[in-house]
Amino acid sequence: MNILAIDTSCDDTSVAVTNGRSILSNELFSQIAIHKDWGGVVPNLAKRAHEERIDEVIASALRKAELTMEDIDAVAVTQGPGLAIALGVGITKAKELAEKCGKQLIAVNHMEGHIYSCFAQDIDGQPEVPFEFPYLVLLVSGGHTELVLFNDHLTYIKVGATRDDAAGEAIDKAARLIIGDKAYPGGPLLEALAARGNPSWFKFPIPMTGSDTLDFSYSGLKTALLYKIQSMSPEEIEEHRADLAACFQEAVFGALFMQLKKAMKKYDVRNLVVGGGVVANQYLRVRISEIIEEVGGSVQYPKFPGLAGDNAAMIGIAAHYYAEAGRFVEDPNALERNARLSL
Ligand code: KG4
Ligand code: ZN
Repeated sequence: MNILAIDTSCDDTSVAVTNGRSILSNELFSQIAIHKDWGGVVPNLAKRAHEERIDEVIASALRKAELTMEDIDAVAVTQGPGLAIALGVGITKAKELAEKCGKQLIAVNHMEGHIYSCFAQDIDGQPEVPFEFPYLVLLVSGGHTELVLFNDHLTYIKVGATRDDAAGEAIDKAARLIIGDKAYPGGPLLEALAARGNPSWFKFPIPMTGSDTLDFSYSGLKTALLYKIQSMSPEEIEEHRADLAACFQEAVFGALFMQLKKAMKKYDVRNLVVGGGVVANQYLRVRISEIIEEVGGSVQYPKFPGLAGDNAAMIGIAAHYYAEAGRFVEDPNALERNARLSL
């Protein structure tokens, strides 16, 4: 079954064609250049750019897959969570396409897309990673930091979540404080800077230490960074910019490792799935792989470059399991964006 998938949840206009777990094409128009001067995503500009680009991204995804709409069996779209007016563009387009071409419509949760990105395959069905349920999933993106039990396809139990900022959001804010107002997107910039710094130069408190929950909290850590910077002279800041980045990153990730280990023990789950934009961070992967070596088990990351951040291929792969379960949108006209959709 060929699925044409659309994701316009934030600042990337992405369209993919997938078949099962195989990616036939995965096209993306990035809005980085549009939002860079503002140091973050500007909702109205994002919406307009999605509207301006979506048709050409759809055409390009079909062309790369060497297919036409006639070969497509269903249209999948991100229903939420995300930026409401951005989500709306993809949903409107998906409804339009499904109706015009007489295709079934599938509505997918963006976060389950991030989970399924870890099971993607190329056109030859590689890599052949079988599903070994149950998994403990760590989702780390710009809007979410969550621990989820993934017991079977499309079956999730959320066991921990952030109480305020998400890890990616904290990283983005830190990048602006450490590097400058226009440090966007902050994650890759902070990672590059941190790689040159000493993670032991200063100890930021690891958020939620001592808590018996599996939750996260990053707003206090952001404030701790602000106070630290305010206590430093401009010369000190200049000298220790990379150290600040490394130490902040260490504290953000420290909370992830702590809660991850606690959850693995509590639920006796050894197989991990780690998805979301922040998992593009290589240092994070190295550290999580070390934990897995220490306690035994396995870890699945997004399988190809470009699959950690937002993309439509992951929506198409999740949609495949919806189709298998017969879960199509019954009344496409009634499908509405849900900016706060939860797993
Ligand atoms: O999943 P995603 O692309 O969008 C959302 O669904 O939110 O995640 C975006 C987040 C941003 O906060 C971005 O700074 C972060 O992922 N990110 C990174 C890296 N690349 C992207 N964080 C740390 N290191 C990176 N290399
Ligand atoms: Zn995302």
